[in-house]
Amino acid sequence: MMFEESFEISLEKLSSRPEILSQLAYPSQRSDYAQTILNELKEMDVESIYLTYQPRPTLKFIGKGYRGIVIKARWRSKVIAGKILRTDSGIPSLNREAEMTRIANSIGIGPRVFDYSGHVILMEYIEGRDLDEWLDELPPDKVCILRKVLTAIMAQAGKLDSISLDHGELSNARRHIVVKNDLTPTILDFGKARISRKPKNLTSITSYITRGPHHLKILKMLDVCNLPIHLLRAYKENPSQENFKKILGELNLVDECSQKATLEV
Ligand SMILES: Nc1ncnc2c1ncn2[C@@H]1O[C@H](COP(=O)(O)OP(=O)(O)O)[C@@H](O)[C@H]1O
Ligand SMILES: [Mg+2]
Repeated sequence: MMFEESFEISLEKLSSRPEILSQLAYPSQRSDYAQTILNELKEMDVESIYLTYQPRPTLKFIGKGYRGIVIKARWRSKVIAGKILRTDSGIPSLNREAEMTRIANSIGIGPRVFDYSGHVILMEYIEGRDLDEWLDELPPDKVCILRKVLTAIMAQAGKLDSISLDHGELSNARRHIVVKNDLTPTILDFGKARISRKPKNLTSITSYITRGPHHLKILKMLDVCNLPIHLLRAYKENPSQENFKKILGELNLVDECSQKATLEV
């Protein structure tokens, strides 16, 4: 990624810069919506937001999806991520997403939600690489590291299943899992999450691993011959710890080297 210098602007100063303020209303630039977002940021004690110059001052976008834009901000002296509802999202608020993320947080999963209001979620800023990019760049001899990261992702998916929280968008894990520099994966975006009697987190992740854009590289690195099709069926019927472990085993993820993976990639 290109190095991009960024600067902070206090919310006070932002109030008097309509050309930057309007960017909070994405993509319409409607000034009344931008004002609503500014008020919500102030209410939650956000101190400043980050800008880049390209060449004019522009909000520093950490990411964009079809429901929200994610900006970098400072809150209680911490650098955080602020998800702002897009004006064309078709949903009235981010409250449900914030509540779902909080449920995930209760078992240590997802970016920690610090605060939220109707149109904004303030959460932990997860710095790292999208899983897709990370897999693409991983040297093929780093099998232990691959095992460590995939095992951690499978474990998180299994934990979500165990509390019946279905993320809903994990089969396309592309932009919804970030691998931090310390190799901890974090599942993002609980915007489509729901409570379900048949959560599909583990099956979705397994299908990303075995059929997604990097499946050939992954299966070769892990030396997998048989896909865990029957085991997945058994897990769907009975999502027990035992069935979970059998799936890990079939994918050759259970190995003492997963404990030994070093931090360098
Ligand atoms: N807490 C976060 N920390 C760092 N990056 C994030 C965070 N939340 C989202 N992003 C980035 O922003 C992108 C869009 O966010 P996402 O929640 O997926 O929005 P949408 O609901 O619109 O799909 C993500 O793909 C990711 O790259
Ligand atoms: Mg998304």
